[in-house]
Amino acid sequence: MQYLETAVEIAREAGALLANYFERHVGFELKGEFDLITEADRRSEKLVVDKLRLYFPTHGIVAEEGSGCEGTSEYRWYVDPLDGTTNFAHGFPAFNVTLGLARSGEMIAGVIYDPVRQEMFTAERGAGAYLNHRPIRVSPTQRLSDSLASTGFPSRKRHHNVNIHFYYQLAMASHGVRRTGSAALDLAYVACGRLDFFWEFGLKPWDQAAGTLLVTEAGGKTSDMNGGPLSITESDHMLADNGQLHDEVLRMFQQIFSGHVPVPLPELPGR
Ligand code: IPD
Ligand code: CA
Ligand code: CA
Repeated sequence: MQYLETAVEIAREAGALLANYFERHVGFELKGEFDLITEADRRSEKLVVDKLRLYFPTHGIVAEEGSGCEGTSEYRWYVDPLDGTTNFAHGFPAFNVTLGLARSGEMIAGVIYDPVRQEMFTAERGAGAYLNHRPIRVSPTQRLSDSLASTGFPSRKRHHNVNIHFYYQLAMASHGVRRTGSAALDLAYVACGRLDFFWEFGLKPWDQAAGTLLVTEAGGKTSDMNGGPLSITESDHMLADNGQLHDEVLRMFQQIFSGHVPVPLPELPGR
């Protein structure tokens, strides 16, 4: 598909730009109270948006740093020019650039590019998911107790985020819960079986657009944390998994939402 090929080319170029800034350790500023932003976020977004507008002048673009456009066609791109900014700003090598394309609200193509590992994850609706051109599949893990998960804690509205309750319970019930600091990579890793499931509250459309398509095209499942259909533009939370763990993880979420705490928090030492 012409759209995917172009998105791959743009992601590779933006990824090279990010890698260059990363080696030079750029400084960061605060965006709002807690969110970080760097020169690399802005330059990468400019590169991606300029190219999309050049190649697809009628397409809409929703880009994190605000330089998108409405467009006149049924196609809409979701762009995160640098997913994992906090990692990036601290020299922690886990970040990516991601582009997802929707037609009339349905995701049809997605790219997640990690320039540090030179891993290009791609998916097209109905045509499977790939890592550097090789087909990928979700893991075969069947039980929560045998699984490895990941989650995230958005920098915005930190004090309103209830995820720490979920983090603790799911960490106790599984082999562990990673916190990579890059939601798109988390989703790509579920798609290729490095992780069995991922959940998060309050993600933005550009964090999830490409990754959710990757997961479903790799044989996995996505929903909101109540098991309802996932809308990348409207849902407040999301779960993505290998398809085998979905019901068991949702049951656990339901318990926690209803205030039941399967494993109480340990006492602090000396109390
Ligand atoms: C963030 C990362 C992080 C997730 C946050 C996102 P950003 O994106 O994906 O893992 O926990 O919710 O906002 O701000 O680095 O593009
Ligand atoms: Ca992001
Ligand atoms: Ca970002």
